[in-house]
Amino acid sequence: MTRMRNFLLAMALVSISMAAQAVDQAKMDRFIDDLMGKMTLQEKIGQLNLPVTGDIITGSTVSGDVVGKIRAGQVGGLFNMKGVKSIRQLQEVAVEQSRLGIPLIFGMDVIHGYETVFPIPFAMSMSWDMEAIKGSARIASVEATADGICWTFSPMVDICREPRWGRMSEGSGEDPFLGAAICRAMIEGYQGADLADKRSMMACVKHFALYGAPEAGRDYNTVDMSHVRMFNEYFPPYKAGVDAGAGSFMTSFNVIDYIPATGNRWLMTEVLRDRWGFDGFVVTDYTAISEMTNHGMGDLQTVSAMALKAGTDMDMVADGFLGTLEKSLAEGKVSIQDIDKACRRILEAKYKLGLFDDPYRYLDSKRASKEIYTAEHRAAARQLATETFVLLQNKDNVLPLQRTAKIALVGPLANTRANMPGTWSVAAASDRYSTLLEAMRRAVGDRGQVMYAKGCNVCYDAELEKNSTMFGREMRDNRPVDVMRDEAVRIARECDVIVAAMGEPSEMSGESSSRSSLTILDAQKDLLTALLATGKPIVLLNFSGRATVMDWEVENIPTIMNVWFGGSEAADAICDVVFGDVAPSGKLTVTMPRNEGQIPIYYNHLNTGRPNPKWFTKYTSNYLDVPNDALFPFGYGLSYTTFEYSPMTLSSNTMPVDGSITATVTVTNTGSHEGAEVVQLYIRDMVGSIARPVKELKGFQRISLKPGESRTVTFTIDREMLKFYNQDLEYVCEPGDFQVMIGPNSRDVQSLDFKL
Ligand code: BGC
Repeated sequence: MTRMRNFLLAMALVSISMAAQAVDQAKMDRFIDDLMGKMTLQEKIGQLNLPVTGDIITGSTVSGDVVGKIRAGQVGGLFNMKGVKSIRQLQEVAVEQSRLGIPLIFGMDVIHGYETVFPIPFAMSMSWDMEAIKGSARIASVEATADGICWTFSPMVDICREPRWGRMSEGSGEDPFLGAAICRAMIEGYQGADLADKRSMMACVKHFALYGAPEAGRDYNTVDMSHVRMFNEYFPPYKAGVDAGAGSFMTSFNVIDYIPATGNRWLMTEVLRDRWGFDGFVVTDYTAISEMTNHGMGDLQTVSAMALKAGTDMDMVADGFLGTLEKSLAEGKVSIQDIDKACRRILEAKYKLGLFDDPYRYLDSKRASKEIYTAEHRAAARQLATETFVLLQNKDNVLPLQRTAKIALVGPLANTRANMPGTWSVAAASDRYSTLLEAMRRAVGDRGQVMYAKGCNVCYDAELEKNSTMFGREMRDNRPVDVMRDEAVRIARECDVIVAAMGEPSEMSGESSSRSSLTILDAQKDLLTALLATGKPIVLLNFSGRATVMDWEVENIPTIMNVWFGGSEAADAICDVVFGDVAPSGKLTVTMPRNEGQIPIYYNHLNTGRPNPKWFTKYTSNYLDVPNDALFPFGYGLSYTTFEYSPMTLSSNTMPVDGSITATVTVTNTGSHEGAEVVQLYIRDMVGSIARPVKELKGFQRISLKPGESRTVTFTIDREMLKFYNQDLEYVCEPGDFQVMIGPNSRDVQSLDFKL
């Protein structure tokens, strides 16, 4: 206690009410100069150390003697501990038992909500609803800070055109423009107007960089691409994170230009800090420093020095900084300036969070019971979830269902609770969430009937199922295959309609969950075949964390809706849409391939010298055995109603270099259901100094229309929208011819030309 009082007294002059106002740089500098003046070398290095403790472990290494290290001033922060009580205990050790009483920063993977779980980020992107996404991050922040967390390892903004990679589920899909908008929205939600607000937490943009482009879709694998592609197609969301004021960045596991990101000076210093002006701190991913040894970069001492010199500030779990930097300093392999720089950045983050003002400011034991998993938060999660479902086809308008219908609910995902929130929901309290069966019975009440049979396991291979249902999400049923199937077919025969809850269990996507085959799994496909033979209409609700291959299903199943993983309120949200209280409005943020051989397939590709929009023609760019185009294009999604687009108009077909023009279209709801539409604007630069994509998303507006209602949607086009990074990585727009396209998805567009 005395030590803490002394510390607070010593700092009193500079700390008075600092948390209440935006950070005064000079004042912060004085405070940190003063503090660092008192720190030993070991204490400075200690600030750069981020061990893991608690019961949520996300890697294969676990840190030892954390309490002893905190006491010795060898820990800067901790992550993935849940609950004020346990966090407070460790903060007390830091503040009251370490020599200088420097508070710890507590981080967590609060990826898509806390106990109120929002849809997985990939699903959230399908809503194209920036306000709702921002709102989800705000709610996550309110709940996490009520539980002691002040730093989240989110947003994950890795552009991904690689659905074999399981972590597609954690990002916003394939498009850099949309990805950048979502990154901004998330940071605004997490950090709020003032980081020192007790309900704000610091964001961490990850994984810098290019983690979403691993060779062969295998997690952690090599990434290699041109700088032009990096800057134009993969970097925009990270840069948006800097521009939005993100407090921290996380390195990625992969190599970039053959150097692991964590030790890549070009990336961490020249691009991130010098070019983009990032002034926060950089933390590594889990053991990313020691993993550089496997990349062939040298022993722990060498790679730790390399990481620090590259511009990495904090070492997550590897113990590389803690164990070797003192020696490296003595041997001249790093300088005291390198260590001071990193230490200062971490202390600045703590200062901005108000932790020096009050180290216990996020540890108010009264908040959790009032602010976590509230009715209001749950309503927001449910509403957003309804916006994320993508209706892929609805032949004969099987959806929406009548509540009076007799429904056969089947499939391995129909009655699982733990599976609903989706991957990376470490704070989830799954026992409080509904299964789809429960929600459906609730929604129907005594008006209709919902019969249930599981029908099959996730797949025939028990080992594959085990590895895809980890972390308490197991659901294996040991009954014989035919017994389960016959039961499902029997109830299907008795019902009016079959709802099949199928696809991937939640841990089949996420970290270390790559797949080489993206089809609906064998046991489920066989069940679908048996159900088809009953002749009853089938609605396939496809749960997944990535783009799946569904050519067979599209051919055979009349109605397919992708529901991804909708979070804690997913079950009720699915019912809202299935029974037509809300029309589906999600639009794909990923291109759906016809088969795995088309990967990578993405809408904003370059043209070849021998383009072929149709199927096979000799000596053009195509396949012998599959068309070039997607099963469903980027931006695609149906509603229960129909929207008609008027012809587009341009305010002018020439645009002055410093001026702007507008593109306008009127959209009318021509059906009989209220619905929301995402109107999309694409632009093509017809001639450039480098090859330019066939189209790029440059604007979108989500609008809601009642039956018969029309809305005029106007996009302003200016030179910023026409810029790209040229061969010399200068950000330029080049005068010439452009094509503007507007439509309900990236394929079905109308276009007009203009000249800059
Ligand atoms: C993941 C990160 C995560 C970290 C901490 C790593 O395995 O790649 O995304 O933030 O663990 O849990």
